Parts: sequence; C-alpha cells; structure tokens
Amino acid sequence: MASWSLYVFLLLLSCDVAFLKKKKTEKKENILARGWGDDITWVETYEEGLKIMQESDKPLMVIHHLLECPYSQALKKAFAENNSIQKMAKEDFIMLNLVEETTDPNMAPDGYYVPRILFVDPSMTVRADIAGKYNNRKFAYESEDLDFLKENMEKAKKPYHTEL
Ligand SMILES: *[C@@H]1O[C@H](CO)[C@@H](O)[C@H](O)[C@H]1NC(C)=O
Repeated sequence: MASWSLYVFLLLLSCDVAFLKKKKTEKKENILARGWGDDITWVETYEEGLKIMQESDKPLMVIHHLLECPYSQALKKAFAENNSIQKMAKEDFIMLNLVEETTDPNMAPDGYYVPRILFVDPSMTVRADIAGKYNNRKFAYESEDLDFLKENMEKAKKPYHTEL
C-alpha cells in the first residue's frame, strides 16, 4: 500500500517537471521574438546567427529595431501578422532581431537608424545591394512596404555570387 502511493506521488512529480520544462522553452522563444513572430526560431546574437548561417547555408536576416520606436512597432505588427512573410522567415532564413547594434560596421552601410533590415549571404557577404524604397535610409522599411520587403527576401534567398 505504501509503495503504491509513493509511485503515484513520483508520477505526478515527473509530470510537473515536464510541464515546467515546456513552459520555460516557450517563454525563452517569446523573449527572443520580441513580437516579430513567436513561431520563428530566433537566434540570440549576430555571432550566433553568422555561425548557424554558415552551417545551414541559409541567409541571415537581421532586423534592427527599438521597442519604443513607433515605426519599429508598426513594421513589427505588419511583419508578425503576415502569414507569407512569417512562413518565408521561418523556412528560408536564419532570423535575428536586435535592439542593440552589433560592432560590425557592415551592418550599418548608411548609418544607424531603426527599423533597419540587412541580409547576409552564407558566403559572409552583407547584401548592401538589397535596399528598400528610401534613398536617405536605404535599409529602412515602413509597415506599408511589406511587398517590397517580400521581394527583397526573395532576392536574398538566391545565392549571391561576387563577380571576380
Ligand atoms: C502579406 O504581404 C504580402 C506582400 O506585401 C501581401 O501580398 C499579402 O497580401 C499580405 N498578407 C496578409 C495576410 O496581410
């Protein structure tokens, strides 16, 4: 009798642990998503992104933003709500969103501003040729520019060959 109740007790205890573990990983993903899409696996740092990019041979998409910036918020909302963009991000890219700048000057070809999106090809080339609509801030996108962003994601998916 005593051993039977001990068994039940242990079983309940292990269920609880599994539940806690699951909750913890989900929470961690949400933190890295920062609202840009909870179903996407986000890398945490630029260095990690470059490493996984080379291993997976998928391009890296880097979204610079700030939580308090209304333009970042608007783009984030449009990006997170658009299924086809989310699908591409999930399947074809290594994804990184950053609220702090990297130390790589190639991540700021025309200055530091947000929102700013840059693509890196698995050959380690920052695709400064893939720009948005605005001449003064070439890598900025507004929430209405999702069609443009989608086209640029298509471009970034194709392997980049430097002309030698
Ligand atoms: C997602 O964005 C694409 C490209 O701009 C657009 O064609 C499509 O209608 C959008 N879908 C939704 C659900 O907003």
